[in-house]
Amino acid sequence: MLLKALLKVPLMLRHGSCGPYVPAAASPPRVVPRPALTSRLGTSHSLFTQTLTDMADDDTVTELTQEDAPIKARGLEGVIALESSLSSIDGDTGTLIYRGYDIRDLTAHATYEEVIYLLRHGALPTRSELDEFTAHLRSERSLPGPVLDLLRNAPDDSPPMAVLRTAVSALGMYDEEAEVLERAANCRKADRILAQIPTIIAAFDRLRKGRDPVPPLDHGSMAHNFLYMLNGEEPHAAAEKTFDVCLVLHADHGLNASTFTSRVIGSTLSDMYSAISGAVGALKGPLHGGANQEVMRMLLDIDEQDADPAAYVRERLADGDRIMGFGHRVYNTMDPRAAILRDMMRELSEEAGEMKWYEYTAAIHDAMEAETGIAPNVDFFSGSIYYQLGLAPDLFTTIFALSRTAGWTAHLLEQWSDNRLIRPRAQYVGARGRTVSPIDER
Ligand code: COA
Repeated sequence: MLLKALLKVPLMLRHGSCGPYVPAAASPPRVVPRPALTSRLGTSHSLFTQTLTDMADDDTVTELTQEDAPIKARGLEGVIALESSLSSIDGDTGTLIYRGYDIRDLTAHATYEEVIYLLRHGALPTRSELDEFTAHLRSERSLPGPVLDLLRNAPDDSPPMAVLRTAVSALGMYDEEAEVLERAANCRKADRILAQIPTIIAAFDRLRKGRDPVPPLDHGSMAHNFLYMLNGEEPHAAAEKTFDVCLVLHADHGLNASTFTSRVIGSTLSDMYSAISGAVGALKGPLHGGANQEVMRMLLDIDEQDADPAAYVRERLADGDRIMGFGHRVYNTMDPRAAILRDMMRELSEEAGEMKWYEYTAAIHDAMEAETGIAPNVDFFSGSIYYQLGLAPDLFTTIFALSRTAGWTAHLLEQWSDNRLIRPRAQYVGARGRTVSPIDER
């Protein structure tokens, strides 16, 4: 009875759209009480029950709930853990869509800011919606002083992803709305995080080189402003366009490891800063976003040794190594993002009159095809594009994070619109029935 009555109460997290930019109240409460019971239970309960019912029809999956059952999905392969309307991968045809739009259409006709808006709201913005949205993003580009100090004090040789993870977490301490869980506040935080991550990356890169950070511009796209803050000069239109396409391509990708991480953290009703710093930590690994810088290291290694790229790959495979930038859990064919990036890389190389990196990647691609049949993923070509844009290899994964924040924040908003704690089980394979002996007798 009580539960029924509670379920009629409007849910704090469930409904509402960010709509147009909603300014924060003059003095937002520092800490808001825990969400109402209804929010925490969530009506997703029914969704979950439904999922279990569906699972009950399939004996193999039902057994997952038994403690002594064998693991059915190592690495959660093939497990459908939740519903999402954001992006979808067809691993057989090599197709990726965001909210129904093919990634090829979006890279040709939309900017990164339009894609952020699309992922968050489900529709592409009108001109006035886009103007309002980008104006808000621009207004949030500066970092709080203590976060800039943190970057100044970070060791110069810290991995940029470690610095980014720490700085995103620190941002939460200086956001008065950090603990406010209403959707409008979460949208404002998403904008802040999206706007400030480029500033963190560029400022740290300059500081570690002994240069002063370049304050963000109050105009221009995210791609334009980022390249400006990094290099201290406004980028050419072609560089901005190339970089913008890379951001569009990395903005979302189903329930990948870092997105899942962000949703797991979000599902505990923790805050957006915790979820995004956790996602940055997950992306950092070489099996996920860290692969792009490993690809560039390999290309530089080949160049330094003046090695034959195909022979180099064959040797690494013979040693049992993985070749970074190849293989994917979902694609059985070439990652469509890789195909777009490959074409872009060829154009960039032709324009620059420097075909070396493109030729290395083409030779490695052919060798991998012949030796393993494993196709390249997005990380194989992105690295050499960033390199040609003048970025240091250890920054590459931070660029991936910059872009994927669009997906992470949109997934968090989707998670909180119908939340249920994500809490799977493990198959226990440890000892049983042991008793504790006194410490001197062990
Ligand atoms: N180089 C060489 N062999 C590879 C490979 C690679 N990049 N990727 C997968 N394989 C092989 C594995 O050795 C394994 O072979 P085996 O069955 O003989 O042991 C088989 O393919 C399946 O690999 P597995 O690790 O089980 O697949 P997965 O779905 O768990 O892994 C990745 C997916 C992405 C982690 C994996 O392909 C990989 O490590 N790629 C390199 C890192 C990378 O580029 N990550 C970015 C992803 S966007």
